[in-house]
Amino acid sequence: MPERVLSNKDMESIVDTTDEWITRRSGIKERRISSTRRDESTTDMATKASLDALKMAGISAEKLDMMVIGTVTPDRQFPSAACMVQKELGAGNAFAFDVSAGCAGFLYALAMVNNAVKCGMCQTALVVGVERLSSVVNWHDRSTAVLLADGAGAVVIQAKPEKGGILSTHLKSDGTAWDLLYASYGNSFTPDILQGLDQKPFFLKMEGNKIFKRAIRCLSEVSREALEHNSLESEDIALVVPHQANIRIIQGLASNLEIPMERVFTNIHKYGNTSSATIPIALNEANREGRLKKGSHVLIVSFGAGLTWAAAILTWTM
Ligand code: UT7
Repeated sequence: MPERVLSNKDMESIVDTTDEWITRRSGIKERRISSTRRDESTTDMATKASLDALKMAGISAEKLDMMVIGTVTPDRQFPSAACMVQKELGAGNAFAFDVSAGCAGFLYALAMVNNAVKCGMCQTALVVGVERLSSVVNWHDRSTAVLLADGAGAVVIQAKPEKGGILSTHLKSDGTAWDLLYASYGNSFTPDILQGLDQKPFFLKMEGNKIFKRAIRCLSEVSREALEHNSLESEDIALVVPHQANIRIIQGLASNLEIPMERVFTNIHKYGNTSSATIPIALNEANREGRLKKGSHVLIVSFGAGLTWAAAILTWTM
């Protein structure tokens, strides 16, 4: 996570908001905002998270044969964040690319790697979720500025003969509603190009309330699909690690699945919504806090821009 903490009190001096409103409506108390002066670019954050993951897995970067990064905020339009991180890690034996799937980016990336492992295309892979949303947030828009933040998380996936690991992945998209959450300008969409160099800034826009309702419904549906696919019931899930967008969305999901909040991991109060980074960051914290027990089933599930949403069920094998 970036070093700089921006509290709700700090947000009160940036936009017309209150600690009380942010806490009550979203569950967020503070978030982390990155700075390139402290080597906290998207590439920097992803590299640090990847080094931590490789260290924990006891694997050298040269062992990696595939790297996929879920992000909507790579440092450059091209090359991919994955290729830039590959250089930093010295992971010369991997092929590397990014996945753009909004807040579901990490889960989409995980699914690509899982299938590549299953068909024998790779043995040892790195999956990263990283976001520098502070670079696309409209800092005058209180409805989004208080929610979004920066961070990175990474996991190492290995082909193993024994059962367990990633049981299944379930990916969904609905492009008909892309305009509920999008970046107003950027990449090749420059409608004012003939007006010369007077480019409008690249801002994120969200219809929060519509997204909110869809998020609870879609997260619940895709979670049920994942459970049914594996012949599991809600009570078989030891821990849900959901996307951290709003504590009320997480509570709605838990209620629909009839899973008590004690079996749902949350850290949104500390980090806000870091899009594709929320799940790997949360998985890492849950793991280090000893909440992921060997042999237990974990449900991870996310929803975001695209619209995209996804779920996976894991059996923790460590
Ligand atoms: O990561 C995946 C995608 N993102 C999400 O899943 C986020 C989904 N949406 C949400 O989390 C919630 O919709 C929000 C937290 C964004 C907003 O909560 P809400 O309960 O849906 O509030 P609202 O948008 O209906 O706004 C209620 C009021 C409005 O005022 P009026 O029109 O009722 O007078 C807003 O102008 O709250 C106002 N408001 C604020 N007030 C203080 C909006 N943002 C703020 C703010 N501080 N930061």
